[in-house]
Amino acid sequence: MGDAISRAVLITGCSSGIGRATAVQLAEHGWPVYATARRLDAIRDLAGHGCKVLALDVCDENSIRDAVATVERAEGAVGVLINNAGYGQEGAFELVPMEEVRRQFETNVFGLTRLTQLVLPGMRRQRWGKIVNLSSMGGRLTLPGGAFYHATKYAVEALSDALRFEVRGFGVDVIVVEPGPIRTRFGDTAIASIGSGSRDDSPYAAFNALLARRIREAYEGPMGRFAAEPDAVARVIEKAINAPRPRSRYPVTVAARILMGLRRWLPDRGFDAFLRTQFRTS
Ligand SMILES: NC(=O)c1ccc[n+]([C@@H]2O[C@H](COP(=O)([O-])OP(=O)(O)OC[C@H]3O[C@@H](n4cnc5c(N)ncnc54)[C@H](OP(=O)(O)O)[C@@H]3O)[C@@H](O)[C@H]2O)c1
Repeated sequence: MGDAISRAVLITGCSSGIGRATAVQLAEHGWPVYATARRLDAIRDLAGHGCKVLALDVCDENSIRDAVATVERAEGAVGVLINNAGYGQEGAFELVPMEEVRRQFETNVFGLTRLTQLVLPGMRRQRWGKIVNLSSMGGRLTLPGGAFYHATKYAVEALSDALRFEVRGFGVDVIVVEPGPIRTRFGDTAIASIGSGSRDDSPYAAFNALLARRIREAYEGPMGRFAAEPDAVARVIEKAINAPRPRSRYPVTVAARILMGLRRWLPDRGFDAFLRTQFRTS
């Protein structure tokens, strides 16, 4: 180990989608990768791509501590942390049970926060580190039915802005990645999350049904043409961690750039009017 800088990469949520694609991309390009997931069985095959695999549930303090300690024992420090684990809780605001609201924040915000706190001392010690936070275009704009998901991604944007300022002097970069629709398990998980708390006789039954259809259409059918594969995000992440002076934000997909641009330029009423063309339930 000695005084060499550790460039070991710790990635959360590698059982599928963006986390898995990023683990493969980075390992195949020579980065020492620790791919993690809640279920070790789901990532064992990543060893065949050159990754080391570890169990890590971002909602479990002991699990977070153990994973960081394992990497630090072997490498001296976590050099690159990729906070990727996350999912979208969808459904009409009024109906989402509070335990699901809490689980959404535990996973997307508090897990990322705790993991970041625990890797920072090692990064500061070696005066080199990269923290990559998976936000979303949904961290810059809000779609109906996604109140809690968007709230978590807005939180990721805000805490990344504060942290970027605080750790820059220690040689640590904070990088936010903002994908548009990416073909992963994300859409299915989001649609499944609507189910809880929505009954046929509820005043939101039509809204929630339309919401499920709109989520499906973002990944399949004609609109699905604007969705990208997870390796598109993996390539952007690799570019960002290789950059000597990375940008603070990396949008991924044309759809993300267009929608974020539209949100920036339209006043609230204008953006709501645009959304009403997409979410007409009567
Ligand atoms: N796909 C998109 O359209 C899109 C767009 C913008 C941003 N994103 C963001 O990209 C990130 C990755 O999502 P994805 O699209 O790759 O979706 P995905 O295929 O569903 O992958 C999500 C990953 O997060 C993991 N995860 C969930 N809860 C966890 C926990 N408590 N501890 C550890 N891992 C946990 C899942 O593991 P399990 O297998 O154990 O559930 C899975 O590995 C998320 O932060 C998401 O918000 C996705």
